[in-house]
Amino acid sequence: MKPFAEQYEEYREAAEAYLQGLFAQKTPWASLYEAMRYSLLAGGKRIRPVLALAFASAGGADWRTALPVGCAAELVHTYSLIHDDLPCMDDDDFRRGRPANHKAYGETLAVLAGDALQPEAFRLILSAPGLDADTRARCALILAQASGSGGMVAGQVLDTLRAPKTEAELREVHRLKTGAMIAGSCQLGAAVAGNPELLDAAETYGYEIGLAFQIRDDVLDVTGDAAELGKPVGSDRGGGKITYVDLCGVDKCGELVRERTESAVAAVAPYDADGFLSALARSLSERRK
Ligand code: IPE
Ligand code: IPE
Ligand code: MG
Ligand code: MG
Ligand code: MG
Repeated sequence: MKPFAEQYEEYREAAEAYLQGLFAQKTPWASLYEAMRYSLLAGGKRIRPVLALAFASAGGADWRTALPVGCAAELVHTYSLIHDDLPCMDDDDFRRGRPANHKAYGETLAVLAGDALQPEAFRLILSAPGLDADTRARCALILAQASGSGGMVAGQVLDTLRAPKTEAELREVHRLKTGAMIAGSCQLGAAVAGNPELLDAAETYGYEIGLAFQIRDDVLDVTGDAAELGKPVGSDRGGGKITYVDLCGVDKCGELVRERTESAVAAVAPYDADGFLSALARSLSERRK
């Protein structure tokens, strides 16, 4: 059994190496690939692929077979960040420690790089070596539901156009804009392992850590360090949005994050023999970036 940090690094490095191999061909539209790789390879935490790999492993599969589906979630996540930073969305100039995609390549290419990352994600799933046709289809459906108009995009609509005000409204936005993709990533791993009971536990765990993750994101928007985070602080509140910090204050946010985290840990207890999933949930609850 490897210590948590070592196992996380092994998963993260494998995802990183897989992503490095993408969109490297020479084409006449090289600037599109360049813009896609610019954001994709800027060194995010890779939490979504790590979750997919960890759930594949918890379900008894060789986690390496889950690399294409875990990285597919990272492609969709990266597209969501490129579009989230656009002037018509959060209008942020910095991401993953470098100028936002539209600052480096202009808005047209930033929109198109985001557009291209979405079908490319489904291409990775639908051509994943080592997965049968049924498993590929199940994974494609999970990612479509997590990222689509009943998932992440719905959350972005409510977040940017509806100005949520109450705790219940904000929780729903967080559940959709962040929880759906995190839960989807966990479910992708469980689907690769082909374990239906684990799939339910993965969904619960993912939504609980997803809510905790976004509350922590709201806290870091106030208490975090822009250089360490690799993105601006004060962005959401500066834009006049109500966040969890406005509603509850930093201390109460900490309590909520701990509550959600322990509920996530409880949901996967029967499948977490090596303790990786509980250690991951707890480390995310205290993250500084
Ligand atoms: C940022 O996600 C957007 C949110 C859902 C809060 P991450 O914090 O996972 O960002 P990266 O992938 O590490 O850059
Ligand atoms: C992120 O929410 C949600 C998605 C990208 C889907 P935020 O707008 O709070 O994320 P950051 O703070 O810009 O990373
Ligand atoms: Mg946003
Ligand atoms: Mg944003
Ligand atoms: Mg934020």
